[in-house]
Amino acid sequence: MEKRLLRLQKRRDAFFERLTEEFRLKRRSSDVSEGAGKRETIIDAMLSMQESDAEYYEIIKGVIASLLAAGTDTTVVTTEWALSHLLNNPETLKKARDEIDTVVGARSHARRVHSPKSSLP
Ligand code: HEM
Repeated sequence: MEKRLLRLQKRRDAFFERLTEEFRLKRRSSDVSEGAGKRETIIDAMLSMQESDAEYYEIIKGVIASLLAAGTDTTVVTTEWALSHLLNNPETLKKARDEIDTVVGARSHARRVHSPKSSLP
């Protein structure tokens, strides 16, 4: 059991490192540090702190872990709860489906651009 946990921890750490490296590369290519008109994200700010203090990576890892833990189960449970209510309320399901068809369109994939705040209920 302990060995499996350690293996899992290693895989998780490798995943976080890949994720952080992706941001680091994006940052370099878009020159956020030069203030090229791009908005700085929290991860950008943390990566720039890490440039002067390598140990800052532990903080970055902790923040990623918190966001993943806080964001996954909550979203899964809320989506499951909403869908089960919709399945038990066919009238409301039809309204939701019509709204999605109107805002997103029947064949297109949903993208943020399809849902400006003004078209939300
Ligand atoms: C339907 C989905 C979600 C629900 C129901 C939910 C619910 C909550 C609740 C009730 C709190 C505590 C708020 C408080 O008492 O101050 C909280 C805090 C937090 N949530 Fe969510 N959350 C959801 C999605 C997410 C996602 C997607 C993320 C990250 C990507 C996230 C990150 C956080 C963080 C970091 C905190 C702590 C904020 C702080 O320290 O003040 N949550 N969430």
